[in-house]
Amino acid sequence: MFGGSIPQRQAEQSGQPVHLRATTLLLPEHPVSAPLLPASRAPAGETKRRRGMAAGGDTVSLVHVGMDSSNKTLLKSEALYQYVLDTSVLPHEPDCMRELRLVTDKHSWGFMQSSPDEAQLLRMLLKLTGARRTLEVGVFTGYSLLATALALPEDGSVVAIDVDREAYEIGRPFIERAGVAGKVDFREGPALEHLDALLADERNVGAFDFAFVDADKPNYARYHEQLLRLVRVGGTIVYDNTLWAGTVALPPDTPLCDLDRRFSAAIKDLNVKLSADKRVEVCQLAIADGITICRRLV
Ligand SMILES: C[S@@+](CC[C@H](N)C(=O)[O-])C[C@H]1O[C@@H](n2cnc3c(N)ncnc32)[C@H](O)[C@@H]1O
Repeated sequence: MFGGSIPQRQAEQSGQPVHLRATTLLLPEHPVSAPLLPASRAPAGETKRRRGMAAGGDTVSLVHVGMDSSNKTLLKSEALYQYVLDTSVLPHEPDCMRELRLVTDKHSWGFMQSSPDEAQLLRMLLKLTGARRTLEVGVFTGYSLLATALALPEDGSVVAIDVDREAYEIGRPFIERAGVAGKVDFREGPALEHLDALLADERNVGAFDFAFVDADKPNYARYHEQLLRLVRVGGTIVYDNTLWAGTVALPPDTPLCDLDRRFSAAIKDLNVKLSADKRVEVCQLAIADGITICRRLV
């Protein structure tokens, strides 16, 4: 599951970063659910709160038996993920984003684009936090960038950095047609250099409300130091791929390709650092490929 997909093999051969799809987090060997006990076998004294109740009041299952705070996750089936997409995500995906996503799916590196549920989360976070000035590291064809530009207010802006202008050019017409190109400031080149260039101007220090990082995993820890100066106290930094297709939790001797081993190790280091970093409050989400939200405290 972790070493043999076609996109992964292609990526290994070309040395490009590998982004395994969110579905690789859906580990089929995990139990589908807690045992579904008939009502008659419910433990004595079981409360209504722990029973699944049908509309008419009949007990249909005890779906949470066997769960405690250490294993309460729903990421157990592709069908469940599809349900989330079909019910709550795709009906609200703007047409321009869907069109760009489908075009990008045909790109040989299409698996690198953010998932629709992740883009929905980004839009929600931007709106909830009222972000105006934002940064994006890792644009590719611009799916998460378009989500960001759509969520920003009229006077909002996003500095979007990527080494690959060619990929950005695929998405630019979609951004223009959506009427949000005026909010996008694309900068081509290595992100470390562009972030340093921003920091060289005092006016940018603490001037950003929000940053989304989705490129170049081994440098996440360095981006973190730069972004902690660019993003204001109270602002938000979001890191993508922080569970790296679930590899972060595999036994250390699990065979992985060289790229996955390096990226997974970098992400594991990052997760430990972020968790111990008193300058931020963190929230790890198990959606998409793992997302960590940091709120700058000092
Ligand atoms: C996973 S993709 C970004 C996906 C994008 N957020 C989306 O939703 O479609 C990663 C991108 O990072 C870019 N990248 C890789 N290394 C980089 C670096 N050192 N500086 C800037 N961009 C880089 C790649 O060119 C690629 O387009």
